[in-house]
Amino acid sequence: MPIGVFDSGLGGLCALKELHRIMPDTDLIYFGDTGRTPYGTRSPETIMKYAGQDARFLLSKNVSAILIACGTVSTVALNALKISLPVPVCGVVSAASREAAASTKNGKIGVMGTGATISSGVFEHELKLINSSLDVTSVACPLLVPIVEYGFADDEIAFLAVKRYLSQITDAGADTVILGCTHFPILRKMMEKAAPHIAFIDSGAAAAREIASAFSGKGGNGDIRYYVSDTPANFNKTAKVFLGGELEIKAERVEIEKY
Ligand code: DGL
Repeated sequence: MPIGVFDSGLGGLCALKELHRIMPDTDLIYFGDTGRTPYGTRSPETIMKYAGQDARFLLSKNVSAILIACGTVSTVALNALKISLPVPVCGVVSAASREAAASTKNGKIGVMGTGATISSGVFEHELKLINSSLDVTSVACPLLVPIVEYGFADDEIAFLAVKRYLSQITDAGADTVILGCTHFPILRKMMEKAAPHIAFIDSGAAAAREIASAFSGKGGNGDIRYYVSDTPANFNKTAKVFLGGELEIKAERVEIEKY
């Protein structure tokens, strides 16, 4: 049985890539809700509704576990999904928070995420549970998701936006930053250029390592199937570049509102 991975769009591919690297024989199913991205600017009610449909679609493909490769859904809807779904569900908050707490030398951590993630306060809460003396600076970065989705990750516009958002965190003296939105590792080069002394934690990849250690591979061929809720052409092109593979990516379109 495959493991299901979902996100509002392309961001979850960072987690998928890491999961495939660690569990090369496990079959994976990816769903990107490209027709309804971004999630991070929406209300908790809408995010819960979308997340429920995304998860039910993956269940219809008989997945054995679900990795929520989306910071927004992980911070807003993880508990509701855990209660309502018949398979294990893993979000991105706990693994990334543990990695950040282990990485910081000066106890100052930055969190970058969507508006919904930062308003939820969930990363900050988790970090304080790990170590109550951690000093956490959280910054909502609403411009970064469209920059990635529209293919501007290598453009100067991305550098300017990243630098602007990071300045609040560097002013606070953080030495470690959680990329609490799974789209943001796609901007990693820009992040490292804007703040070379900071350690960046990829929340999707951290969650992939967590789910991989919990579920030993149950056999499979390492097949990856891709589904999206909008026309697949853009996704296929950008995902191929992003995943850096030779193979053509042929995502199938899903009527997600039916689930
Ligand atoms: N990649 C997602 C996240 O981690 C969603 C961003 C969005 O759709 O706004 O938050």
